[in-house]
Amino acid sequence: MPDITKNGILNAIKKVDDPNIDKNHLIFNSIKNFELKDNVLVLDLSLSVPQTAVNEELKTKISNIIKETFPELNSVRVNILAKITPHTDKRKDALLPGVKNTIAVASGKGGVGKSTVAVNLAVALAKDGANVGLIDADIYGPSIPLMLGIKEKPKIYEKDGKVVMQPLENYGIKMISIGFLVDDDAPVIWRGPMASGAVKQFMSDVNWGELDYLVFDMPPGTGDIQLTLVQTIPLTGAVIVTTPQEVSLIDARKALKMFNRVNVPVAGVVENMSYFIAPDTGKKYDIFGFGGGEKLSKELQVPFLGGIPIDSRIRIGGDKGVPIVFDLPDTEYSEIIMNISRNLARQINLINLNASSKVEILLDDEE
Ligand SMILES: Nc1ncnc2c1ncn2[C@@H]1O[C@H](COP(=O)(O)OP(=O)(O)OP(=O)(O)O)[C@@H](O)[C@H]1O
Ligand SMILES: [Mg+2]
Repeated sequence: MPDITKNGILNAIKKVDDPNIDKNHLIFNSIKNFELKDNVLVLDLSLSVPQTAVNEELKTKISNIIKETFPELNSVRVNILAKITPHTDKRKDALLPGVKNTIAVASGKGGVGKSTVAVNLAVALAKDGANVGLIDADIYGPSIPLMLGIKEKPKIYEKDGKVVMQPLENYGIKMISIGFLVDDDAPVIWRGPMASGAVKQFMSDVNWGELDYLVFDMPPGTGDIQLTLVQTIPLTGAVIVTTPQEVSLIDARKALKMFNRVNVPVAGVVENMSYFIAPDTGKKYDIFGFGGGEKLSKELQVPFLGGIPIDSRIRIGGDKGVPIVFDLPDTEYSEIIMNISRNLARQINLINLNASSKVEILLDDEE
């Protein structure tokens, strides 16, 4: 019978089948506390997962596998501490020291539901316990204030001799919009340097406080302005939103190339308007085709985060300023969006772990 050691426990946990258990990054340091007395084991594990992944199911899976591996144990108690990993990057740390991760939500084509996805993902991450901010950087059509039901303008005040802007808050997230800088009806012709100057200000002059994720709703397209913006923002990763049909996929490929050019990892593809289920008959219609997003992510070798169906409740949520994940949390569609946000959190974590230069001892399998 093998001794019950930290190594042995970690190697047992590596066998757990759960998307939250990333066996490549289960390291000695993951065990924060290990108490073994009279064949009773108490274990505190630190995992890089969103708070809500920490549920009874995961704890049971872990304690069951430990009990199977070490049958002499009378009881196993597992506590999990969720820890969101930060993106360590000199540019980000200088500009946004309190922000752990920055995520661009982009699309090659306009009107594919990028803002809807950005808002719902931000609110979903916050519902899972993360501190989240959202920057509406869409110079062509800032729509986030409307989608979050925010009508007022941000307060501007002096703090430590510096003029700062206080982000507005709703549904547990903080938000600033490029729309606050311009009048509603006056058209603005933005140039690259102007747009990047405004977005820079939103990073340096806004009192964001401590955030786990700062999400950027980007202007659609892959032209000079978009390229300037993705060079200006120190990004942890990007999410590309597409609809299933070929015209949208062509533009999504261009967006992916743009991020590759500036060395920003793509955290994944979200397919929006994936299908429609008729509320009266329950019949499924593939209005914009089928499987395009998944095909694209295979072709480009980036993760597929999930597909969101077309539903009038999603559109209404945007129009009335109450995102569906907040308004109708118990619906299947909210559940779909919550899952996409968890997939995104996992991918961001992987990006950080892969980029981290910290060498931690990985354990060899004990056979
Ligand atoms: N899954 C969905 N089901 C139903 N309606 C949706 C869905 N996704 C987006 N919409 C609606 O489609 C319209 C366009 O969405 P949205 O504004 O989010 O797109 P966008 O890509 O940000 O557009 P733009 O390029 O203009 O910024 C909105 O009216 C929105 O409510
Ligand atoms: Mg938009």
